[in-house]
Amino acid sequence: LRVAVLVSGRGSNMAALIDAAAEPAFPAEIVAVISNRPNAGALAVAARAGIATVVVDHKAYADRATFDAALDAALRDVEPDLVCLAGFMRILTDGFIAGWAGRLINIHPALLPSFKGLDTHARALAAGVKLHGCTVHVVTPEMDSGPIIAQAAVPVLEGDDEDALAARVLAAEHLLYVRALKLWAQGRVRLDGDRVKVDAGDDA
Ligand code: GRF
Repeated sequence: LRVAVLVSGRGSNMAALIDAAAEPAFPAEIVAVISNRPNAGALAVAARAGIATVVVDHKAYADRATFDAALDAALRDVEPDLVCLAGFMRILTDGFIAGWAGRLINIHPALLPSFKGLDTHARALAAGVKLHGCTVHVVTPEMDSGPIIAQAAVPVLEGDDEDALAARVLAAEHLLYVRALKLWAQGRVRLDGDRVKVDAGDDA
């Protein structure tokens, strides 16, 4: 399975996917990392791992549609079977998403459908939830609302601040995204209408 990863920032989730895929037995290969920010830390991490990197700088485009067209062209060049958003901080147009329908997934730092959007950890603390976590889901036009592939929960502990909670969730994200990518690459993720069914296996 050929996988492209879209990033905007430090790229710790991307690095987790790259590290996992570097294992010869892993059923997916990271073929490219694409960033909308030329100075994203993720680009250096990917390059060091020998992965091809591409920058499609959103500031060079007049609007979302032209940026998304350039992003789409860059992606088509690398012919991925699956596109993983990993801290990619641009809203994608419906047209772009339609072009990659069923081949585009995202990780979100909350237990969806709670806390869609930004600042999830601050909002989880403000709400007083005792469990928080992360979700890998199929991307559909409505933000953070596509079919859920996998989730991981972490406790919210007494005395947590945003940073402490974010770090606990991030550690869970790295494991979850690798697990979800593996399930996908093994052909065990099926879209059934508006939800995902995951075929059971030994290591589910
Ligand atoms: C992660 O928490 C991800 O879920 C969110 O942004 C953060 C990106 O971190 N969308 P990284 O770039 O993967 O380190």
